[in-house]
Amino acid sequence: MADLRGKVAIVTGSSRGIGKAIALDLANQGAYIVLNGRNETRLAEAKKAVLAIHKNVVVCCCDVSKKEGGELLIKAAIKAFNRLDILVNNVGVSSRGGVADLKPEVFESVFSSNLMGSINPTIPAIPELRKTQGSLVFISSLAGIRGLPGLSAYCSSKMALRAIAESIRIEEKKNNIHVGLIYVGITQIEHNKEAISADGSMVVLNNRENKKVQSTSYVAKRVSQNINKRKFTTTLTRIGRLNAFMAPRFPLLVERLILKNLHKFEEKSK
Ligand SMILES: NC(=O)c1ccc[n+]([C@@H]2O[C@H](COP(=O)([O-])OP(=O)(O)OC[C@H]3O[C@@H](n4cnc5c(N)ncnc54)[C@H](OP(=O)(O)O)[C@@H]3O)[C@@H](O)[C@H]2O)c1
Repeated sequence: MADLRGKVAIVTGSSRGIGKAIALDLANQGAYIVLNGRNETRLAEAKKAVLAIHKNVVVCCCDVSKKEGGELLIKAAIKAFNRLDILVNNVGVSSRGGVADLKPEVFESVFSSNLMGSINPTIPAIPELRKTQGSLVFISSLAGIRGLPGLSAYCSSKMALRAIAESIRIEEKKNNIHVGLIYVGITQIEHNKEAISADGSMVVLNNRENKKVQSTSYVAKRVSQNINKRKFTTTLTRIGRLNAFMAPRFPLLVERLILKNLHKFEEKSK
């Protein structure tokens, strides 16, 4: 296992949800933390939670879907701790609605958060990660394994992360940067988590408290394992691993299974 004590980790979108759990898990292993989000109040709450573990934490309030946001974030880590060992690209937003009903702007918004929100911090982070032979992690989704009904914008944005991760792995092999890609299954969400609906407005997702879904702390543990073992892909949940095995080999069978269970599938993604 790697020793994360004194290593510097940025987690994008870490003011709540999965990102916050990842930041806390890394902090518990001794990593210095740079928290990120757009809402100062939520960031202050998250900072308090890290401070309960140790004092080496800073916040950087910025929008990583903007080029300047990505640059600001990396600069904030270097200014505070003079190095960068881990960047977890966690920011992401989901979408709902069949392609025929979607406004094209939905694709723009989703790609702006999920793709540009990962690329903007990654580009300025690479020179810093080369110095430390650090880790670059992308948080994808089981929806990034194959196209799913009602989730086309989300699925395509998460699939794009795979292509980027594969390219960087080869490009940075000589510099020994670890690139990880995490396929996350349906997870607990915080109150009022929103997704983008077909007309571009935000819709609040149903509460998942009484549903059998992964906890954010479990997801965070698996992300830490990926970093510590310098693995490429980590696929969460049994159904996720089955899907990852079946989808490229038996695409038509998987399609038939989805069609057969369409109502269950639609219920789960509400
Ligand atoms: N929850 C699930 O079931 C699930 C399943 C599979 C994959 N995932 C993936 O896991 C990741 C986290 O999901 P989550 O459910 O924890 O999301 P969440 O609860 O909506 O949290 C998103 C975090 O990102 C921040 N954020 C959003 N846009 C940002 C931007 N442009 N710049 C900076 N910060 C931004 C939010 O804070 P502000 O709004 O204050 O900026 C918040 O801290 C996403 O990539 C998601 O696709 C989630």
